[in-house]
Amino acid sequence: MILVTGGAGFIGGNFVLDWLAESNEAVINLDKLTYAGNADTLKSLAGDARHAFVHGDIGDRELVARLLEEHRPRAVVNFAAESHVDRSIHGPGDFIQTNVVGTFNLLESVRAYWSALPEAERAAFRFLHVSTDEVYGTLSADDHPFRETNAYEPNSPYSASKAASDHLVRAWHHTYGLPVLTTNCSNNYGPYHFPEKLIPLVILNALAGKPLPIYGDGQQIRDWLYVKDHCSAIRRVLQAGRLGETYNVGGWNEKANLDVVQHICSILDELRPREDGQSYFSQITYVTDRPGHDRRYAIDATKLADELGWKPTETFESGIRKTVQWYLDSQEWVQNVTSGAYRDWVNQQYGN
Ligand code: NAD
Ligand code: TYD
Repeated sequence: MILVTGGAGFIGGNFVLDWLAESNEAVINLDKLTYAGNADTLKSLAGDARHAFVHGDIGDRELVARLLEEHRPRAVVNFAAESHVDRSIHGPGDFIQTNVVGTFNLLESVRAYWSALPEAERAAFRFLHVSTDEVYGTLSADDHPFRETNAYEPNSPYSASKAASDHLVRAWHHTYGLPVLTTNCSNNYGPYHFPEKLIPLVILNALAGKPLPIYGDGQQIRDWLYVKDHCSAIRRVLQAGRLGETYNVGGWNEKANLDVVQHICSILDELRPREDGQSYFSQITYVTDRPGHDRRYAIDATKLADELGWKPTETFESGIRKTVQWYLDSQEWVQNVTSGAYRDWVNQQYGN
């Protein structure tokens, strides 16, 4: 079996669902259920003996040691993190606590477990750390997309905390021999995405007749990857990645934010036209830019393609259409996540 952390979040939740759809290998799912964790995402696994959910913190060494001893996983896949740049600007403390201190504690728990494994299990064990392209900083319009060899130049409290966690993972390999793998992925989108992030926020605000907030001039570029393609990349790296290596994961799908928002508006105009006959475009609103806003992210995923033969299956056009349709079909999940705490955040961030 494998131990997944943060498996009630957006990517971790999709990973667990896909993992159990693709194989019969059991999953222990450790998640703190912060505002971003949603047990509802895992509802379809109720009664499935291959999935055990444990409510807890990656930084709780006693709990993690007990889970490792009891279940003896052959791998740990670490998704658990604070993940939202805007929140990291308002309150960086939680990011340092979970992404840096939490990862450190998790590494120590895993190292103690791994060191005591019999030879063959020790050799087969993997710790896969899920990270982001934001650790590389920002690109100019004509820069080559991020390669694994780019220098780390994080610019936000979020990306700095993820960079720190990547460095710890690297050091635990170099110093202690822990068999680690790291993936640095570009922006994900798809089902079960918490609506504080651009794509789900825009879909839900559009349907609610609310403004679609564009930071600054909307010409910032992100390289969008459908979440299930990210999950397949992680499965592939876990299966065949070279120890101690990092792999960049991306979809070769660079888009300016304004284009993404307009694209979503066009799909909604077709699938769920407004009652007044106007286009959703009319809800687009320019708001104050994010401080320190990175201009462009883009991933060169050549290493992953050449070494491990991975390729994304969705284009942006196919993935975004599926995503919009999923939000239209998943009102119950949406109702449950847009609760009091979510409304407080929206008021704090967009209230003015
Ligand atoms: P998310 O915020 O949706 O989910 C994070 C999950 O981790 C939540 O379920 C939360 O409850 C859990 N968690 C938080 N702190 C915890 C702790 N101390 N102990 C146990 N569980 C804890 O995040 P996501 O978008 O699913 O991202 C998952 C990982 O992928 C993160 O490490 C993130 O940095 C990375 N990543 C995200 C993206 C993206 O576009 N969302 C892109 C590349 C990499
Ligand atoms: P986000 O989904 O928060 O991901 P990240 O900051 O990790 O890339 O934001 C994606 C892009 O969309 C980013 O350039 C910021 C921008 N954005 C807006 O323009 N308006 C919004 O309301 C949000 C949440 C993001």
